[in-house]
Amino acid sequence: MTSTTQGIALRATGLTKDFRGFRAVNDVDLTVAEGGVHALVGPNGAGKTTLFNLLSGFLKPTSGTITVRGEDVTGLQPEQIAHKGVARSFQITSLFENLDPREHVELALQSRTTMGRTFWRSDRLMRQFRPRADELLEEVGLSHLATKPAGELAYGQKRALEMALVLALDPAIMLLDEPTAGMGIEDVTRTIELVKRIAAGRTVVFVDHNMHVVGSLADKVTVLQQGRVLAEGTYEEVRKDPRVITAYLGEASNA
Ligand SMILES: Nc1ncnc2c1ncn2[C@@H]1O[C@H](COP(=O)(O)OP(=O)(O)OP(=O)(O)O)[C@@H](O)[C@H]1O
Ligand SMILES: [Mg+2]
Repeated sequence: MTSTTQGIALRATGLTKDFRGFRAVNDVDLTVAEGGVHALVGPNGAGKTTLFNLLSGFLKPTSGTITVRGEDVTGLQPEQIAHKGVARSFQITSLFENLDPREHVELALQSRTTMGRTFWRSDRLMRQFRPRADELLEEVGLSHLATKPAGELAYGQKRALEMALVLALDPAIMLLDEPTAGMGIEDVTRTIELVKRIAAGRTVVFVDHNMHVVGSLADKVTVLQQGRVLAEGTYEEVRKDPRVITAYLGEASNA
């Protein structure tokens, strides 16, 4: 590791992604400090999720590079990037309707082990993950729903379960795409507290449209607009930035 990468968890340089001629992410430079809580904000379609997909290897960049703690990971597969300690949640919930939260978390815990690629799983083998699975469910406030089919959970509970699945991977760097989307005020408050707890000893990058969430959590904010970095700084700095105000007002008046 060179001195220029010290203290930097994740860095994108000149990152660009084209979809059939449409540039969704345009020459983005992003530096995420080790241990930081970094928010990505911007109007709908600004390229936030695409940037997450690039950082986590779910999409390959058209150009540019990505490093994790100084190591070039550009073009690696999602599992390989996960192996470097980067895990992400999805903006859209993707759970197995018939499995309960405990089973979901047990599977996630198992996926970190050498058993992860085994198709066949016995109850006895899975049971070794139960104590840790129950701890994680407790952590996200789902203990009382451990055996309810995921399909029957309320929306906020599904999001909490997704958080437990990311935590099961125990990543050094967590990417959370809209962890509070669609939540009521109580769930939002609980999620803010949860993210604060899990950010201790970790690096967190999150996307959220709720400025209360951004202001409560982020020590640094990057504003994207039409695929480009529009502004960057503390929450207090960017919220006063006239370019940011215009970008959001523009969105509102177009709506
Ligand atoms: N697979 C794809 N193929 C073509 N265009 C895409 C693809 N994925 C995203 N886009 C386009 O890229 C742009 C950025 O989308 P992205 O989902 O990254 O935005 P976002 O900032 O996450 O928005 P939101 O706040 O609504 O989640 C949008 O115009 C979107 O339509
Ligand atoms: Mg998105």
